Amino acid sequence: MNHPVRIRRIAEEDWDAIVALEAGAYTALGLCEGRPALEAKVRASPATCFALDHGRRLAGYLLALPYPGSESPALTSREEVVFHSRNLHLHDLVIARDLRGRGLGKALVRHLTAGARQLGYEQISLVAVGGSHTFWAAIGFTARREVVNSPGYGPGSVYMSMSLPPEQAERPTAEHPAPAGALPSGAPSREYEVG
Ligand SMILES: CC(C)(COP(=O)(O)OP(=O)(O)OC[C@H]1O[C@@H](n2cnc3c(N)ncnc32)[C@H](O)[C@@H]1OP(=O)(O)O)[C@@H](O)C(=O)NCCC(=O)NCCS
Repeated sequence: MNHPVRIRRIAEEDWDAIVALEAGAYTALGLCEGRPALEAKVRASPATCFALDHGRRLAGYLLALPYPGSESPALTSREEVVFHSRNLHLHDLVIARDLRGRGLGKALVRHLTAGARQLGYEQISLVAVGGSHTFWAAIGFTARREVVNSPGYGPGSVYMSMSLPPEQAERPTAEHPAPAGALPSGAPSREYEVG
């Protein structure tokens, strides 16, 4: 049966499902950060963090926050500072194991990228873990092997970034100003058709 896919902002009642998805994805890799650290990242930038519903089920999430280029948040840190940066750091992306390989991960990244351009970000960065750098490279991220990640990300972690071309970026407006701490509310939820 085909379930509708919807991407929307994260709500308080999502946390049990998000924490379960995170533990399922990262416990075996020793990279689990836990609810307080995840919540702090959403608090830092609610407009760039999203939940993905597959039918009535929360089937994935993506967390991103402004962060200085070539740096990355410590895994278990509770971000208390909101950086003023035109670099948006894609801190985490997880899709439920049984729903992987259907384009849901890429749909979340596309949603983020479109919103980031509207918000005036110029670059998206991330730390690829668990061998996922090939997934990110296929989307358009470039490995920046000169950047040294904190040891918390595990051996083989790769810092990557992707420029958001200025000609495709919409100029900041009064309604959507350039990022500077308090971001405007995020793009409205969207529905997607995926394979
Ligand atoms: C990475 C992840 C989000 C991808 O989500 P997804 O919905 O399966 O991805 P999509 O269906 O949009 O894309 C599938 C493609 O990505 C590839 N891919 C998916 N996960 C991958 C991984 N961990 N490493 C390498 N390639 C991967 C698939 O092989 C497939 O390639 P194809 O299009 O050439 O067939 C998902 O595998 C996941 O949640 N992994 C655990 C958490 C994780 O590692 N997150 C990234 C941390 S930086």
